[in-house]
Amino acid sequence: MSSCSYTLFASLCLTLLLLLSIQCATASNIGQGYRLISTEKTSDGGLLGHLQVKQKNNVYGADISLLQLYVKQETQNRLRVHITDATKQRWEVPYNLLPREKAPLKKQAIGRLTKNPLKVQEFSGSKLLFSYTADPFSFAVTRKSNGQTLFNSSSSGSNDFGEMVFKDQYLEISTQLPKDASLYGLGENTQPHGIKLYPGDPYTLYTTDASAINLNTDLYGSHPMYLDLRNVDGKAYAHAVLLLNSNGMDVFYRGTSLTYKVIGGVLDFYFFSGPTPLDVVEQYTDLIGRPAPMPYWAFGFHQCRWGYHNLSVVEDVVENYKKAQIPLDVIWNDDDHMDGKKDFTLNPTNYPRDKLVPFLEKIHSIGMKYVVLIDPGIAVNSSYGVHQRGIANDVFIKYEGEPYLAQVWPGAVNFPDFLNPKAVDWWGDEIRRFHELVPVNGLWIDMNEASNFCSGLCKIPRGKKCPTGTGPGWICCLDCKNITKTRWDDPPYKINASGQQVPIGYKTIATSAVHYNGVLEYDAHSLYGFSQTIATHKGLQGIQGKRPFILTRSTYVGSGKYAAHWTGDNQGTWENLKYSISTMLNFGIFGVPMVGSDICGFYPQPTEEICNRWIEVGAFYPFSRDHANYYSPSQELYIWDSVAESARNALGMRYKLLPYLYTLNYEAHISGAPIARPLFFSFPDYTDCYGVSTQFLLGSSLMVSPVLEQGKSEVTALFPPGTWYSMFDMTQAIESEGKYVTLDAPLHVINVHLYQNTILPMQQGGMLSKVARMTPFSLIVTFPAGASNGEAKGTLFLDDDELVEMKLGNGYSTYVHFYASVNHRTVKVWSEVEDGKFASDNGWTIEKITVLGLGGSGHPTNLEIDGEPVTTASKTEISNLAHKYLHNLDDKKTSVMVEVKGLDIPVGKNFAMSWKMGLSL
Ligand SMILES: *[C@@H]1O[C@H](CO)[C@@H](O)[C@H](O)[C@H]1NC(C)=O
Ligand SMILES: *[C@@H]1O[C@H](CO)[C@@H](O)[C@H](O)[C@H]1NC(C)=O
Ligand SMILES: *[C@@H]1O[C@H](CO)[C@@H](O)[C@H](O)[C@H]1NC(C)=O
Ligand SMILES: *[C@@H]1O[C@H](CO)[C@@H](O)[C@H](O)[C@H]1NC(C)=O
Ligand SMILES: *[C@@H]1O[C@H](CO)[C@@H](O)[C@H](O)[C@H]1NC(C)=O
Repeated sequence: MSSCSYTLFASLCLTLLLLLSIQCATASNIGQGYRLISTEKTSDGGLLGHLQVKQKNNVYGADISLLQLYVKQETQNRLRVHITDATKQRWEVPYNLLPREKAPLKKQAIGRLTKNPLKVQEFSGSKLLFSYTADPFSFAVTRKSNGQTLFNSSSSGSNDFGEMVFKDQYLEISTQLPKDASLYGLGENTQPHGIKLYPGDPYTLYTTDASAINLNTDLYGSHPMYLDLRNVDGKAYAHAVLLLNSNGMDVFYRGTSLTYKVIGGVLDFYFFSGPTPLDVVEQYTDLIGRPAPMPYWAFGFHQCRWGYHNLSVVEDVVENYKKAQIPLDVIWNDDDHMDGKKDFTLNPTNYPRDKLVPFLEKIHSIGMKYVVLIDPGIAVNSSYGVHQRGIANDVFIKYEGEPYLAQVWPGAVNFPDFLNPKAVDWWGDEIRRFHELVPVNGLWIDMNEASNFCSGLCKIPRGKKCPTGTGPGWICCLDCKNITKTRWDDPPYKINASGQQVPIGYKTIATSAVHYNGVLEYDAHSLYGFSQTIATHKGLQGIQGKRPFILTRSTYVGSGKYAAHWTGDNQGTWENLKYSISTMLNFGIFGVPMVGSDICGFYPQPTEEICNRWIEVGAFYPFSRDHANYYSPSQELYIWDSVAESARNALGMRYKLLPYLYTLNYEAHISGAPIARPLFFSFPDYTDCYGVSTQFLLGSSLMVSPVLEQGKSEVTALFPPGTWYSMFDMTQAIESEGKYVTLDAPLHVINVHLYQNTILPMQQGGMLSKVARMTPFSLIVTFPAGASNGEAKGTLFLDDDELVEMKLGNGYSTYVHFYASVNHRTVKVWSEVEDGKFASDNGWTIEKITVLGLGGSGHPTNLEIDGEPVTTASKTEISNLAHKYLHNLDDKKTSVMVEVKGLDIPVGKNFAMSWKMGLSL
């Protein structure tokens, strides 16, 4: 079965295909490809061409005879290649959900056919070059600066893949890849081999409620994007490729090639030229939307579980955190607060409004927040206003003209169609009504893949009692028939849905169900959670007038513009702790930087040791939340004394770092830069870190190196070249040429190191972000250890986090650039402040400046602030301590840490400080 190329034996082959569709599909050439028959320049500077199928066959349906090719250099560093049916409009990701330049509509007549198009043509932008071969048609994208081929769909000379295929329900295209390219992305997927895509592992993209414990499986989100990092003679070049398509797809990565097999839509490629990984996410989020600004409190610690039976349990949890002196900003409810698990309701017995509202007033008064869950499925219940108003407004997805019936937690439900503008308005109105009932501070949208406990076409059974929101109720109780009658329910090519090639309508909305304007669920399936996220964002913005906070399980390209994400249902095991790092880092690349995993695992419960290690990692997730299943025993951080101690250490550090995390949130919002990053983002030239999946960076220079194995009290971590300082004891330095260093890591210790040339803004921490953010600042300045010359810099963003927009220039924000230098023995630290009024109005001051890595062993003298000598009469104290080296390249080298404290420097004004280091004795 090695070849099914179109031959005289095509019909035999087709029969075999039907019998053995899988084997044949992965190893064969399905068609002879297309021939380019015309090209012309468009008025907007693009290139328009037509492609004619070379030889039709019926494998997976008939080929589309004539295609339109449109190529556009959209920006200096972004190239688009769009291929669709030349005569018929096809499904594309809706332009209102993901705003972007329109591709030209199909042309009625094909003018100016060039009979003999050139064999090789080029179409050049400033960074990327598009070239093609006419017959059979293939295209390539080249980096102009070094001539490297980034993408090449030509199958000539390849045994791995065949020519481009374009049928109604089967699109196939491939690229060659150099074998030393490192690829990242293509999620959502739990990747047992770490963050780097692994040749031979399957990557299927189709939003599915398959728990995150399933490896190499299509999970909750769909992100058909990969970042490709290559090293050419020691220098790194990164670029990214997005195939903007919402239909289900299998992606086969073989190491030297990659093939997309997509079951609908169009081939809409975007190429981003990089060349650094940070450039790539900047360019990517420029297209898909910059990450949402998060409120300050979102960076605090969150506690949740399914099974907080009543309000007094929630009150106890809050109280116990306080008693244990563990920071807590946000308390959550899963669905326990609901009446019969119905959205936007309160359980009158366990969460009575007259008790819940005073509780919320109490926690809100100290700055704590409250977030609850909602699901998209709206209970079918004649006494339930939300459903009644939904019916009245005709907001639900339809099957044969009736609202499509499914089963989720409350029992029988209908699913709102968020592609329908009326449904978006109705949803916003329900959020407003709920907010009047319960002043929640954010919403958690779950089960939005969409998850369904049944499959197919269902009816409410007669004479059988189904769960109505009490009891487990995840076993389908409706009377259902599988739907196999349409080609949407049973497409000719089967993606590896749920990792088991189940029918694509399995346990979700039937794929022949219909949305607004006749859109098929088949096409829009993976956009369901994304469309709900946009509607929820609109609703929250409308009523609160405040920056919305949304946590969503299902995501698509562009979700990060509206919401945070957690990695779904995981287990309290060492493996799951490890996997959480790769998934988190991938979401940073996907433009969803506010991400974390359920700390200590969702189900089953962790051991005490795992929970210790997990909070040590989780304290440094951008989104830090402990969450557990109904059937798990309690795992709040105070349950075990040892976990409480680890939590105080790790979260204590997080709360001191909040100004840094919040500044990273601002950077993410203006440039897409991930908050948590793989090491290669800061050290792209250093190939040893390309596969590191057990450590990560926060921003560019804070590195977290956790223990991820049982029984260990040491961790061996990679230190890219340069000097690194321990955040828990700043006298400790590691000078690395780029090697693995073994660090002590007893149970309560998490290793966090700060890289050279950085200025890190910190505050004094506390039990609540609102309190912590009003404490005095300190600055940590790092130089390469012992250097007599060096520079460092850092930034700090402060704003009123209630405001919807996060930006400068509105009178409610301040941005500070910090700089430092050491030149021979003169040390300088200074700031340049933009829009200082907000910081000045809040009275923020810098109390301490700590400079690490100064050469020699001398004492500081001649301290000056803004040109004035600091006298001994002032309360300023200056001291120095020698660094201890865990790893030292030059044994004789000495260096000191200098700390200047008792300062009272306004954050909102420029300052300059200097001193001289005395000669070493
Ligand atoms: C694309 O691949 C084909 C076949 O290997 C090769 O002939 C062609 O030169 C490549 N094009 C580019 C731009 O690398
Ligand atoms: C709340 O639930 C807990 C645990 O189920 C139970 O022990 C307690 O009696 C309940 N309290 C109230 C006020 O219902
Ligand atoms: C409708 O909701 C009410 C209130 O929660 C509940 O008592 C009733 O059982 C529900 N009816 C159905 C048919 O689910
Ligand atoms: C419906 O399809 C699912 C998935 O293929 C299968 O497990 C189930 O048995 C089918 N149900 C019926 C009633 O045929
Ligand atoms: C489908 O995915 C599962 C889980 O990764 C994998 O074991 C299986 O080999 C895949 N099947 C195919 C046909 O790709």
